[in-house]
Amino acid sequence: MARIETDVLIIGTGPAGSATAALLSSYGIENMAVNRYRWLANTPRAHITNQRTMEVLRDLGQSVEDEAYLFAADQELMGENVFCESLAGEEIGRLKSWGNHPLSKAEHLLSSPTMMNDLPQTFMEPLLFKTACSRGTQARMSTEYLSHVQDADGVTTTCLDRLSGEEVTIRSKFLVGADGGNSLVAQHIETPFEGQMGVGGSMNIVFRADLSKYVAHRPSVLYWVMQPGSNVGGIGMGLVRMVRPWNEWLIVWGYDINAPAPEVDEAMATQVARQLVGDPELEIELLSANTWTVNNMYATHMQKDRVFIMGDAAHRHPPSNGLGSNTSIQDSFNLAWKLAAVIKGQAGEALLDSYSSERTPVAKQIVTRANQSIEEFGPIFESLGMAEGGDPEVIQQNLEARCNATADAEKQRTAIREAIAFKKYEFDAHGVEMNQRYRSDAIETDGQAEPAFAQDAELHYQPTTWPGARVPHVWLYDHDTGQRVSTLDLCGQGRFTILTGIGGEPWADAAAKINDALGLEIEVHIIGPRQPIADHSGDWARASEISDSGCILVRPDHHVAWRIKGLPDNPQAELHRVMRKVLSIQ
Ligand code: FDA
Repeated sequence: MARIETDVLIIGTGPAGSATAALLSSYGIENMAVNRYRWLANTPRAHITNQRTMEVLRDLGQSVEDEAYLFAADQELMGENVFCESLAGEEIGRLKSWGNHPLSKAEHLLSSPTMMNDLPQTFMEPLLFKTACSRGTQARMSTEYLSHVQDADGVTTTCLDRLSGEEVTIRSKFLVGADGGNSLVAQHIETPFEGQMGVGGSMNIVFRADLSKYVAHRPSVLYWVMQPGSNVGGIGMGLVRMVRPWNEWLIVWGYDINAPAPEVDEAMATQVARQLVGDPELEIELLSANTWTVNNMYATHMQKDRVFIMGDAAHRHPPSNGLGSNTSIQDSFNLAWKLAAVIKGQAGEALLDSYSSERTPVAKQIVTRANQSIEEFGPIFESLGMAEGGDPEVIQQNLEARCNATADAEKQRTAIREAIAFKKYEFDAHGVEMNQRYRSDAIETDGQAEPAFAQDAELHYQPTTWPGARVPHVWLYDHDTGQRVSTLDLCGQGRFTILTGIGGEPWADAAAKINDALGLEIEVHIIGPRQPIADHSGDWARASEISDSGCILVRPDHHVAWRIKGLPDNPQAELHRVMRKVLSIQ
């Protein structure tokens, strides 16, 4: 039996696995990624790509970020969620979504150097995978994970080479299970889960058809269709989703989970497409059709010794809020630098425990949010008298009744407006995407209480340098390049970073000594007038929550590891203490 060695073996080349591979290779860590299939995603499932994910891509390099924008439909085209009888039928309402409301747009612009966009998984995966392989990842396709055993020094994994039918043994220091919602790795490490699988039934129908005449004047990625049966199973309503404007589409239509899954053949797919588009003559080019289940389940622990799970393997939920691939990529950003630090001998193995402490609360939050978003379609149906499914005649009567000049009709119109506006928690929940604050041994508190959220934490991102939060983005000025640079650009790329100001020069000496002592590469940026990096607008002074001589220590994943308001008597001793604590160095 062939035996192969690598530092990190990754099962799966979806968004989680490919991102982990790309990050590890960028950090100079040997890794191998295996996929049981011969290629990557063959359907465009995930698409909503949020700013935090784009920050991970930006951290991988300008070319990676640029290529994502090149293939994505840009934020403006994501426009408004439309609620209608069918694409050709009557429109019931709209909701400006995904940072397209002017107030929300301002929050997006202020929060990140990146832009939200719509990048189908069929583009995201190849981008991450190519980045990984070109930087050193060994990829083995048609290689199926079967089992593993671990000991004190590493993991021995058995895979099936599906081309030869032979078993392959791969020895690694660590194993990452990024093997999706039916994860065998999660099963083998007996990860504890909460929740339930299969709470609803759904089908995806991917097809080509030029639907410009129904949509180009009201650009959106999601057109929600209210028809009899559209609240059975599925993700809250019938959905016609733009994959490529305006000639490639993905329909999501539910089925009763208590009945057998339907056989979605060409005839059925065409019939569903005609029904949702509202054109009985519509011709489609069917690309694929499949059924899937709505899940409501998350791991309460994501590690067993040298084995980790991430992505859908750990959090299984419907696509509502577009959080799946995003969270998967963000899991990898959390784990990859920790694995690199341990493998390079810069950190103790206990650092790896912080992955589960930091990411399981996120898993619970996003699974709960996504499932709640399905429920929150209810008031829209109720406002149209369709809560019980509805017979077409009653629905028509209700749609007509809402146009009357009566007090009841006005009440109904108000109810529809409010129910649609409430869907902001699914379609413009910037806080859910950006507010992740970690608590673990890899964060050293400064003794300050966590800042309370001034606005709704699900809807609005609130920047803070409170240890555990992501370092706030502000634009600074780089004298060397003459260009603007984000605070996030000064951080990341596998290194710890210190952000300080005039009077904070001793942090640079302290960091140099700690780098020598612990074999690290802490980067120090002094921000201020006549410094390489200037804060002309004063935005950083307002956002930093420290004085100029203080220090913000930022982890490679952009989260603040520690901060101190001013210069202590012995910055080197303080920094040494903090780095040892954060990196679990005994
Ligand atoms: P994923 O399932 O993508 O990948 C698993 C990998 O493991 C695959 O490469 C597979 O071949 C491999 N594998 C599995 N078992 C194996 C074995 N035994 N051996 C070897 N390889 C194995 N998300 C989002 O962020 N925004 C969005 O807008 C949407 N929209 C959306 C719409 C629809 C209709 C769906 C169905 C889903 C979404 N999602 C989404 C969710 C998103 O698609 C999902 O969360 C990610 O694909 C999860 O990525 P992973 O890498 O964790 O698993």
